[in-house]
Amino acid sequence: MVKVLKISKIGGEKVRKKLIEKGVLDASYSLGKTGNFLLFPLKKTRGIVKEFGGKIVDRPLRKVSKPVTGLKEALGKILPSSLAEKFPRSFDQVGDIAVLEIPQGLGKYEKVIARTLGRINPRIKVVAKRAEKYSGKYRIRPITVLYGEKRSETIHREAGVRLKVDLNTVYFSPRLGKERLRIAKLVEEKEKVLVMFSGIAPYGIVIAKKNPSAEVWNIEWNPHAVKFAEENIKLNKLGKRVHSLGGDVRKVIPKLKKKFDRIVMVLPFDNDKFLVDGLMVSKKGKTVIHMYSILEEGAVDEFRSKLERKHGLKVFDVVKAGAYGPKMWRYCFEIIV
Ligand SMILES: C[S@@+](CC[C@H](N)C(=O)[O-])C[C@H]1O[C@@H](n2cnc3c(N)ncnc32)[C@H](O)[C@@H]1O
Repeated sequence: MVKVLKISKIGGEKVRKKLIEKGVLDASYSLGKTGNFLLFPLKKTRGIVKEFGGKIVDRPLRKVSKPVTGLKEALGKILPSSLAEKFPRSFDQVGDIAVLEIPQGLGKYEKVIARTLGRINPRIKVVAKRAEKYSGKYRIRPITVLYGEKRSETIHREAGVRLKVDLNTVYFSPRLGKERLRIAKLVEEKEKVLVMFSGIAPYGIVIAKKNPSAEVWNIEWNPHAVKFAEENIKLNKLGKRVHSLGGDVRKVIPKLKKKFDRIVMVLPFDNDKFLVDGLMVSKKGKTVIHMYSILEEGAVDEFRSKLERKHGLKVFDVVKAGAYGPKMWRYCFEIIV
């Protein structure tokens, strides 16, 4: 039984809204009806009749079960509780594709996990698992669809732009979204920006969208990524200010007849091997290079002094740009040439 306010249907909607505003309507029970009266479940009864009229009665209203929003909570209702420690809590979302890492020992439940995630989150149309590591010269980490539509292509939205991507043919990580926006916010009026290793052009597109006077050149050698970059430039109506160049940075850079104000180098490892290429199109004392490297925390100082010694550069900041794996971080070395 629950205490309810029994009140005439006439003007009932107004009363319902007022009860919500006051925080006294008990949403854990469904509303009731009897003849020409409505039954509103209450958290407290004091002063209610005086304010709204009607009368307080006890009624057996139905308990409303709270929608399950967390994956861990939903799995707790289906899978053995002995496995609860291993349940995945989070996943990456690229457009309407959810990408899960299936924890060790839960392999035989991967389809149940995927279905559960798809059902509690109606905006997700595909649930997939990813290969363990990025691999090959194009840094691809293909997916296997476990639930929903059988596709690997989607449109991802971030920072006010749309990015078409096929997870089985190109590199893309939604986790870098915050970092892309950080770099875009550093760009100044009329800058010319070069993005080396640009993939489907997410850096260049976010930079150009946030900086209406900037112009960006992207270089990428995966032909699938170049095709998506070109589509994405059109999709975001940036055709005049964002350029996509296909090919190996080592071959494309010497043909560029311009110098840049800012260069972004987005390889996870070995970026420093390509510094000489970036330096060819830099302005001494002016160009800023954002160079990423995945390192253990203890290796940062040595890497920094190696850059300064070997190339005669000034590293004016080192920014932690997200976790990569156990004890490994993606660092951005902020360099002035
Ligand atoms: C880590 S991904 C980054 C992609 C993109 N910047 C992003 O944030 O989504 C590195 C990219 O560099 C490309 N790549 C690697 N070596 C290259 C080279 N020598 N010339 C051009 N592209 C290269 C790979 O194909 C891959 O798409």
